[in-house]
Amino acid sequence: MTEYEEIIRKLKADKENAKRDVKLIVDESTAAKFKTSYLSPASVLAESTQAIKTLDPKYKPLVGQASNEHKQYLSGLYDEAVISMKENQLKASLTSEKLDITLPGRPVQRGRLHPDTQILRELLDIFSAMGFQVFQSREVETDEYNFQLLNFPVGHPARDMQDTYFMDVADRGDNPLVLRTHTSPGQIRVMREISSLNPVDPPPVRVIVPGMVYRYEQVDVRHETQFDQLEGLAVGEGITFSDLKGTLTDMARRLFGPDARTRFRASYFPFTEPSAEFDIQCFQCKGAGCGVCGGGWLEIGGSGMVHPNVLRNGGYDPGRFTGFAFGFGVQRIAMLRYGINDIRYFWDNDLRFLEQF
Ligand code: PHE
Repeated sequence: MTEYEEIIRKLKADKENAKRDVKLIVDESTAAKFKTSYLSPASVLAESTQAIKTLDPKYKPLVGQASNEHKQYLSGLYDEAVISMKENQLKASLTSEKLDITLPGRPVQRGRLHPDTQILRELLDIFSAMGFQVFQSREVETDEYNFQLLNFPVGHPARDMQDTYFMDVADRGDNPLVLRTHTSPGQIRVMREISSLNPVDPPPVRVIVPGMVYRYEQVDVRHETQFDQLEGLAVGEGITFSDLKGTLTDMARRLFGPDARTRFRASYFPFTEPSAEFDIQCFQCKGAGCGVCGGGWLEIGGSGMVHPNVLRNGGYDPGRFTGFAFGFGVQRIAMLRYGINDIRYFWDNDLRFLEQF
């Protein structure tokens, strides 16, 4: 075999080996290994190029051409293999690091308003539609405002209805501090504030006073030691008991629909004369009696015509002005509306209860 034939044979064998080994290229290191075996100065290719120098001149062009072709072939093989290796790597990482943008996001936990706040806001809407403004009064009151100016003198038996939390801060004599037992002291505060604007010819009053009240109560399904009241007060010339009944009946209809029924029962409060308690027919049982209401009607609150002494204490001349007032439990309304049969749920902070609204 001539030297020429020997070179050609080696190149052919090298080609077969390369065809086999190119399949081993799967990553950077196997690619580098292929390059060292077939395209480095130690390769068969480099050896044949080297051999040209010492070859018989008639073989030089032939071996030169064969070497060139072989180099092209090997480079092509190598480049293709590297490209497809990179494609495979990309595919693999796209699958393993896949981000599925069609997946729904994690739900955001939404808070909600306490059922009591929901009802209170509804009530504020109803009364502002009727022209009432909101007056915020204080929760820590004096005996004077909570009782005396409302016609409960010291020692008056009607105070028993609201036996309550007095605050023993200092010796204040007959005027201790008290957690307000009702929102009615707001009546005096708002009348004084408005009448002071023009004591000779005081402007009319039409307000609601919402807020917490506190009583030493025997706790049961309808009684709590702390609850929300909504007080209403209208003072002006020519206001009558019909206005009171109309206002509360309208409130009940706006809350419970046009068929809602109200009932007024003669009662007694020192600061109204005449006085009435008012009930709303139970929305759940329509008067038949159920676990929410007891006897078909739910007692909502008290009401009446503002007592002349109270008008006077607020700066309004009872010879010229009359007024009506009412005060009711906001939770009672929420109980009717949502069919809640135990008032104690409101302040338990039990999510199983709260999440239902
Ligand atoms: N303040 C009374 C109570 O809490 C309710 C009431 C308000 C009665 C206004 C008459 C007028 O029992």
